[in-house]
Amino acid sequence: MNPVSLRSRGFFVTAGPTGGKIAMEYQDKEYYKIEGGVCLSGRVRVSGAKNAVLPMLAAVTLTRAECIIHHVPSLRDVQVMTQILRLLGVKVEMVEAGLNGGLTLVTQADSLTTHVIKDNLSRQMRSSIFLMGPLLGRLGEVRIAYPGGCAIGPRPIDLHLRGLAAMGARITEKHGYILAQAARLHGADIHLDFPSVGATENLIMAAATAEGVTTLRNVAKEPEIVDLQNFLSGMGVRIRGAGTDTIRVEGVGRLGGTEHTVIPDRIEAGTFMASAAFSGGEVRVENVVPEHVESISAKLREAGVTVQEGRNWISVKGPRKLKAVDVKTLPYPGFPTDMLPQMMAIMTTADGSSIITETIFEQRFSQAEELRRMGANIRIEGRTAVVKGVPGLTGAEVEASDLRSGAALVLAGLVAEGTSCVEGVYHIDRGYENLEGKLRGLGAAITREKMQGAANRLDSGQLD
Ligand code: EPZ
Repeated sequence: MNPVSLRSRGFFVTAGPTGGKIAMEYQDKEYYKIEGGVCLSGRVRVSGAKNAVLPMLAAVTLTRAECIIHHVPSLRDVQVMTQILRLLGVKVEMVEAGLNGGLTLVTQADSLTTHVIKDNLSRQMRSSIFLMGPLLGRLGEVRIAYPGGCAIGPRPIDLHLRGLAAMGARITEKHGYILAQAARLHGADIHLDFPSVGATENLIMAAATAEGVTTLRNVAKEPEIVDLQNFLSGMGVRIRGAGTDTIRVEGVGRLGGTEHTVIPDRIEAGTFMASAAFSGGEVRVENVVPEHVESISAKLREAGVTVQEGRNWISVKGPRKLKAVDVKTLPYPGFPTDMLPQMMAIMTTADGSSIITETIFEQRFSQAEELRRMGANIRIEGRTAVVKGVPGLTGAEVEASDLRSGAALVLAGLVAEGTSCVEGVYHIDRGYENLEGKLRGLGAAITREKMQGAANRLDSGQLD
């Protein structure tokens, strides 16, 4: 059955988490309707960091004591992680309007009921892999469906598994599952082939209760790693070095609870900074750690944008026309891969040609085809995109294939002439809290619409 006939029946076909095809119901399919040509202005407050809170939610399984996490963003990925925790037997209470905006979560993992992570949930979200380290430490075993790839690349987990094996875990992989077992993990000296964010976080959590000292080398230095270290230290974990190349963890037998406020989301902040730069408006982005977005501020200044920094805010004023600049993504503190799609979008109408190089993931250019539908001139050569500035974009029907490409398409819709429809809003909901509400607060003409369609769901067997 081809996608056209499915579409006529109110379904659309999209890539499943394991590379297969799944039919999503139109009624699941919301889209953003955007009237372009608006100069954004005003103030916007950044939510808590998705990529900081997800490993913390895994870390709460390390202790029987109560943990309180403030400034948690209301996101689909947080909901999925919360569901996974509850199925493991963790009590999770969600309290609205926490101390610093966002949600406050109260968790208690005093009696875990299983070591198995539900397939349908672990397949929805790669971050479930973060549970391997803590559950191995707490229960001595964990079973998880292989998380598989997604729109931005195959996303292997070999660094996670090799590190856990070095700490004494027996790993078996069959029928798409991974089973890891260890009576008690022991300390190890581990050098990561690549400064993987997830592997760094997983291995830190595995080392928290391992016997002896673990030294992790060539680790990721992202701010989210530092935030996780602070969270774990609050629980009594003896850890130091986050933010540098080497982290040292001394395992302890029993951990306590903690209360923690999540850092602001630097990628959400960068996305709003880019929206102001692109629309030629003036926006003050609040609840930001300027140091965390230094590479983004520097790149925007190079493109002719006025960027002023306060203690916890950044003011961005876009020029009439951006200068084309070259971008190369690198591990932190380099330019973040999660801002590449947004940077590509704002370069589409810049003065000159921009060379954008992705060094972290294999397929970070899915938005290029969609931006071309809006009139962009983009040529892809392997992991490099050449974006030749055009006079302007025109509104079109476009589709997001992942979280950040979706954000990029929204930015393009904000400045394109006429109306744009950005489909695949469920991708954007994974990592942006109330994006349309925050953009409307800056003057954008954006609404969330529902596509009417069939009420049932085809199983994958009916798809060719
Ligand atoms: C985290 O993903 C973030 N997700 C990503 O954000 C972010 O893009 C990425 O780090 C890089 O900064 C979360 O924190 C939940 P990696 P992660 O392990 O941990 C390869 C977003 O939009 N690799 O640092 O999966 C991998 O294939 C998301 O918020 C291995 O080869 O990223 C990739 O090429 C997207 N083997 C590179 O390392 C491994 O075992 C970086 O991956 C692990 C990773």
